[in-house]
Amino acid sequence: MRDLAVRLAERAADIHRQGRERGFTVSEKSSATDLVTEVDRAAERAIVEGILAERPDDAILGEEGTDRAGTTSVRWVIDPLDGTASYVRGHPGYCVSIGIEVDGEAVIGVVVDSRGVRTEGVRGAGALRGGRPAKPSDRTDLATSVLATGFGYQPSARALQAVVASIVLPRIADIRRMGSAAWDLVAAASGEVDAYYEVGIAPWDLCAGRAIVEAAGGVVRTILQPEGDELVVASPRQLLDPLLALLGEAGLRIA
Ligand code: IPD
Ligand code: CA
Repeated sequence: MRDLAVRLAERAADIHRQGRERGFTVSEKSSATDLVTEVDRAAERAIVEGILAERPDDAILGEEGTDRAGTTSVRWVIDPLDGTASYVRGHPGYCVSIGIEVDGEAVIGVVVDSRGVRTEGVRGAGALRGGRPAKPSDRTDLATSVLATGFGYQPSARALQAVVASIVLPRIADIRRMGSAAWDLVAAASGEVDAYYEVGIAPWDLCAGRAIVEAAGGVVRTILQPEGDELVVASPRQLLDPLLALLGEAGLRIA
């Protein structure tokens, strides 16, 4: 399944590249800032066709509308183009994210980014980023940590995210906002950022990155918030408790 995920993620990354060269149409989804392109849809079609050709009985969930029931214990959870707002502008913060759940647990993840860097992880078998072993940051204090985060598309959710960031930012070294949750997660898996948190990402933003962070030896926590969104935290073990405490001080539910 890992090999199939790698082949399909590379195929989707080729579709991204060709789209940037040839041009593409763009339309709006939930709001004027939530965009989808024909490239998102073409990449999802290619991934779904590839899964069906080799594993027709698995379930599949994709951001651009795929929701197939299966008869095996396996579900593929795919974001064909995570970071569409980056993609339409030619900003490099986008990637394809293919996660695989077995019995509801994320166990395999493959992410290929706009630079062609591939990150992959299999539970119990470690993670690779650009062919080298990935492991989370060994930093021990938040005050010198760089955290990745992201912001949703709904103005009401953003207002809350801005309040949280305003409390977190003075207490850490810096924030990175790449524009793709899957990219942020693999950056946390490999120590390129020290940890990642975000409220309100979707299953297809999380599944592959979660499997990769855990395969690399990091931890991922999801905590339901009163508004119904989930807080996602991906962190090296030693930063998890201090980070949750800080997010709690910033107003998020942490237990
Ligand atoms: C978005 C990106 C972004 C995150 C948003 C997601 P999309 O996905 O992952 O980083 O902050 O919550 O919706 O819409 O570009 O596929
Ligand atoms: Ca996404």
